[in-house]
Amino acid sequence: MKILRILLVTLTIFFTQISFADKDKYEAGEKLYKTNCAVCHGSSSGMDLKKRIAPPIAAVRMHYINTFPDEDSFVQAISGWVENQDESKSMMRGAIRKFNIMPPISIPKEDAMKIAAYIYGGNLDSPKGLKKHVEEEHSKAVAPAVANNDIKSNTQGITVSISLSDKLKSQASSTDLVFIYAKAMSGPPMPLAVVKKQVKDLPIEIVLNDEMAMMPNLKLSGFSEIKVGARISKSGQPIARNGDLFSEKASIKVGDKVSIEIDTVVVK
Ligand code: HEC
Repeated sequence: MKILRILLVTLTIFFTQISFADKDKYEAGEKLYKTNCAVCHGSSSGMDLKKRIAPPIAAVRMHYINTFPDEDSFVQAISGWVENQDESKSMMRGAIRKFNIMPPISIPKEDAMKIAAYIYGGNLDSPKGLKKHVEEEHSKAVAPAVANNDIKSNTQGITVSISLSDKLKSQASSTDLVFIYAKAMSGPPMPLAVVKKQVKDLPIEIVLNDEMAMMPNLKLSGFSEIKVGARISKSGQPIARNGDLFSEKASIKVGDKVSIEIDTVVVK
């Protein structure tokens, strides 16, 4: 309940702030936003996810404002994203899965910064029902970021060390993608957490945790028996194909440390 209350207060502040926004300061940014971003991020398709092709811009703001509370860092983060869609810096992994990653937009850095400032402080259009959607569906996922005190309980994860066995080194090239994932042993086939790296990053140690959940109610901490695996994708696709290299370990619990040596070739 406490989390929910903090979330509601934050939302109220958020929605009040945007209605008192300073209009002139953000005018140029607003125009640029309308020409370059609104076609995908605008609110005309409402909250019907079947009709939307990207999250509403007010939702994007909501996902960035907790991590980048001051205007400078916010503008850097958003304009950085427009310049280069680096998935490892995404604040909206769920959106990437739902809509696919944003395509590159080529606009001058200055324009991207003006747009970012407008998203930070301007009067954003927000589709009807967004507030409700957030309260209903994201309350669990967004709350840890809002209520700093609660972060600890949610960041415990599985520490995974991944390496590639010597005998398979010749079969992988340094830029091949490596998907490191956790799935429930019995439960939905969809991963509970995924991290994407490249072969040249190996060996590497990463942590899979609740923050990487694709759906707010499908989290690592909700399952007592988990399998963890790593797969080098020859095709760059998240689905296993012939010739991919992989290894998987079963019966892992949140809090465990595992080592995975990729030593098997996928044969389907
Ligand atoms: C062709 C459609 C399209 C256009 C145009 C577009 N975006 Fe996006 N954007 C997306 C989609 C789809 C996502 C959700 C997936 C993702 O996060 O990459 C997204 C996500 C984002 C995110 C969140 C990224 C993350 O994952 O943390 C930001 C920030 C963003 N857009 C900013 C902008 C800005 C600013 C503009 C205008 C300069 C813009 N977008 C134009 C489709 C678009």
